[in-house]
Amino acid sequence: MANPSLLILAGDGIGPEVMAEVKKIIGWYGEKRAIRFDVSEDLVGGAAYDVHGVPLADETMARAQAVDAVLLGAVGGPNYDVLDFSVKPERGLLRLRKEMDLYANLRPAQCFDALADFSSLKPEIVAGLDIMIVRELTSGVYFGEPRGIFPDNEGGRVGINTQRYTTEEIRRVARSAFELARRRNNKVCSMEKANVMESGILWREEVQWVHDNEYPDVALSHMYADNGAMQLVRWPKQFDVIVTDNLFGDVLSDCAAMLTGSLGMLPSASLGAPMANGRPKALYEPVHGSAPDIAGQGKANPIACILSFAMALRYSFDLGDEAARLEKAVEKVLADGVRTADLMGPEGGTPVTTAEMGDAIVAALDASL
Ligand code: NAD
Ligand code: IPM
Ligand code: MN
Repeated sequence: MANPSLLILAGDGIGPEVMAEVKKIIGWYGEKRAIRFDVSEDLVGGAAYDVHGVPLADETMARAQAVDAVLLGAVGGPNYDVLDFSVKPERGLLRLRKEMDLYANLRPAQCFDALADFSSLKPEIVAGLDIMIVRELTSGVYFGEPRGIFPDNEGGRVGINTQRYTTEEIRRVARSAFELARRRNNKVCSMEKANVMESGILWREEVQWVHDNEYPDVALSHMYADNGAMQLVRWPKQFDVIVTDNLFGDVLSDCAAMLTGSLGMLPSASLGAPMANGRPKALYEPVHGSAPDIAGQGKANPIACILSFAMALRYSFDLGDEAARLEKAVEKVLADGVRTADLMGPEGGTPVTTAEMGDAIVAALDASL
């Protein structure tokens, strides 16, 4: 039987730097666990624009549709800020998400014990934290029409984006959240702004409908997203699974990142409908961006990208035990005090480089055998 296929789109800035460490991990699984992937690579974001004049070539899109899973680093950067909106690096990523119909973006925020003291919050607030944010990823204000910048009636301009959700778009991501909750602590909190937005009212009603008709066994609560942001830093352990829309999910997940110590720690899985083999269409990517302020300096923390690969093992390849092995290796390395610069407080210390962090995780994998 053919090996499962992976398409690597490393992208821009620190994307290729953190992805280089994931490649070491992929190599380790092939060599030491005989878990082999057919790995191919292509361009996305600014890197694709430089070659093709577009942030995602049609051919790359077709390859992404054909593989078992896509691994993405990060896109964007100041060099590309001047580009027309239609060809900005971020459009490449948004096209992948939309055309692959990756509607459920799983963003787990877990605080490793070794980092509980490092979070900007008190250790007792974050120690043992394990929450899952499920962000709707293919609709809402990111894609709603009409959109654009138009002349207004007073000689100025008007910028328009449209928040738009349909029943089915809400129901399907709600189902993803309830399914995950059943395998966790059986609680879902749905966040919107039903107090000011009609789309928020629909969101609340449809999530409630899915609960009442299909998942009455799961505890469901609703919260306004602004309160949700406050509660996330007040007492995050009250949450198990959070389900929310595209824009709120983007903001709330960066906020949740700091509960874990660093944005460089947060992985994600973007999942769509099952393919012919029963596995979901999937793209795995860290939550962070291309970090232009540290790119090219060997400072980036590769753990978010490495943990995204762990999510691929779990959600695309049914290798939950191997995913847990990789997560434990990360935990061990952190417990041993290995730190990239983002994981160091004002008291300082000597940080390791991106490559040294990857090597330490590979060594911990070796030690797990
Ligand atoms: P960012 O996530 O790139 O960086 C925010 C801050 O976090 C920076 O100080 C950065 O140095 C730090 N950081 C991020 N990842 C880190 C890591 N792995 N290790 C250590 N420190 C890390 O967000 P930004 O600066 O707002 O955006 C920069 C560019 O990235 C923009 O073009 C943006 O559109 C893009 N972006 C892309 C993605 C993606 O590809 N999924 C996500 C977010 C932002
Ligand atoms: C993310 C990023 C993206 C988003 C950008 C780069 C399109 O911030 O994945 O969190 O806004 O969804
Ligand atoms: Mn974001």
